[in-house]
Amino acid sequence: MEKWRLTYRLLKHSSNFDRRLTSGHRYLFGRTFIPFKENFRTLECPSRSYVNGASVSFAIVNGNSYAVQHRYLASVASTTQRNPDFSKITSDDISYFKKILGERGVVQDEEKLADANTDWMRKHKGSSKLMLQPRITEEVSQILKYCNSRCLAVVPQGGNTGLVGGSVPVFDEVIINVGSMNNILSFDKVSGILVCEAGCILENLISFLDNQGFIMPLDLGAKGSCQIGGNVSTNAGGLRLIRYGSLHGSVLGLEAVLANGTVLDMLGTLRKDNTGYDLKHLFIGSEGSLGIVTKVSILTPPMLSSVNLAFLACEDYASCQKLLLEAKRKLGEILSAFEFLDANALNVVLKHLDGLRDPLPSSVHNFYVLIETTGSMESHDKEKLEAFLLQSMNSGIITDGVLAQDINQTSSFWRIREGIPEALMKAGAVYKYDLSVPPEKMYELVEEMRARLGSAANVVAYGHLGDGNLHLNISAPQYTDGLSSKIEPFVYEWTSKHRGSISAEHGLGLMKADKIHYSKSPETVLLMAAIKKLLDPNRILNPYKVLPPSILSQS
Ligand code: FAD
Ligand code: MLT
Ligand code: ZN
Repeated sequence: MEKWRLTYRLLKHSSNFDRRLTSGHRYLFGRTFIPFKENFRTLECPSRSYVNGASVSFAIVNGNSYAVQHRYLASVASTTQRNPDFSKITSDDISYFKKILGERGVVQDEEKLADANTDWMRKHKGSSKLMLQPRITEEVSQILKYCNSRCLAVVPQGGNTGLVGGSVPVFDEVIINVGSMNNILSFDKVSGILVCEAGCILENLISFLDNQGFIMPLDLGAKGSCQIGGNVSTNAGGLRLIRYGSLHGSVLGLEAVLANGTVLDMLGTLRKDNTGYDLKHLFIGSEGSLGIVTKVSILTPPMLSSVNLAFLACEDYASCQKLLLEAKRKLGEILSAFEFLDANALNVVLKHLDGLRDPLPSSVHNFYVLIETTGSMESHDKEKLEAFLLQSMNSGIITDGVLAQDINQTSSFWRIREGIPEALMKAGAVYKYDLSVPPEKMYELVEEMRARLGSAANVVAYGHLGDGNLHLNISAPQYTDGLSSKIEPFVYEWTSKHRGSISAEHGLGLMKADKIHYSKSPETVLLMAAIKKLLDPNRILNPYKVLPPSILSQS
């Protein structure tokens, strides 16, 4: 009886589906994104006090005041030595850069530098006194050539939304931000190939393509701030990877500038090109350690007219997996997202983000899954999805669910999923892990972590289940050494033991440079170090990141 009622609710919602919204692409692309940049900007620090070595400030977001923990990981800076080979900036250097870039492109303003020195997680803070903002590739080339000759270390920075401390200086590195290089260079409607500069903000590219009847093959919660150059450099995954694959597949070409100023033109727009080593892949995911990406050519899929989104509940993790398997089998060609969150993740969002409510309030569930389908024939897609949901309900794989009926519901379901990182930041200190784990093992780690930490922390799990990517987040009132030592190295050892990856999509950055061996063999790490040395012999590009400095100094 109970099941019937639930089933009825699902169908009732779906049959009430607003045709106007589903028949047009606006259904998806009209998602009302909370402007990410604005939220980010509100994380200012009007007052600050220090607790246990971490600083606490009070930020106002949407009219509410909340405490934000800052942990400028002094331990990282104190365990990492500034490479004494690097020069310090002089007034002659500043004059040289002003000659190349003009006054506008040379930023020394303290407030702007404070933002650029601090990462999104507010865990890392450098002390750079200089940010350079080139407008064309030639300027990037001249800057790097000069920095290389002077042995000035640099950190390439995009939207500074990275989550592993890769985008901010560790010490006094010069920040190079290509945000002013934000032109769309060409778009070919027949092939769907977009060529643009690296500083284009992802959301602007999404809007541009929206008008052309196309979409970006990647989408992530930081879209309002992150740049395509940053996306490529981190090989960002996000919410659509299950459908469109990784950037290694959709980036067709790029232009990058090496440490010595050499411009590598690999900006091809060909689907097929087997003329030797495909070197662009070295720059996809190398986190600014091998060169600065200045232009990108990317294959974009056409926008399809029928998009549906379901928010579903499962009683246990095994059911989430069964649902994934069934969704792949039965929704195959129209499945475009399969995201999961556990009850703790939903609770954090509902507690800390305004204007959201539980889409399935009638009872408490342990797991939630968002399934999005994207196809070209509305009646067919709807019929397929409804049949799938009904079957899943009847077989007990899902216990409740709702289909978004309009653009507001779609937005708020996505906001719940995409808002988790922001909600966690508001909740206090957060230890963030981004793991690739065999899906059947994924939640075992979460449970083991809960058992280890007891009531000391709130263990929150969500992620791209369809890609085997778990975001394990440990939320606590504050960062403490006691808690840290219970989490690490356990989390890395567990992942390594199950042949997982300690970075599914965020990269290694500063946070995990010295943890690389948990996921890569010693031989592989040595080859990576040799490639780094070949392309950047003075190691000026994003030092202390990606590879352990000790290995680089040996090789
Ligand atoms: P930055 O943070 O500025 O830099 C990231 C790294 O790339 C640094 O190492 C930097 O040195 C390097 N870099 C930046 N630009 C260049 C360039 N032009 N040339 C060479 N190197 C460069 N990531 C995901 O993969 N999937 C997600 O779903 C996802 N969701 C997120 C949601 C939120 C709310 C937030 C805050 C972050 C999320 N991220 C996600 C992480 C982050 O947004 C991505 O890694 C993004 O691709 C970083 O882009 P960026 O322009 O902000 O780069
Ligand atoms: C996400 O999927 O929401 C992002 O990768 C950010 C995060 O892991 O918190
Ligand atoms: Zn993610």
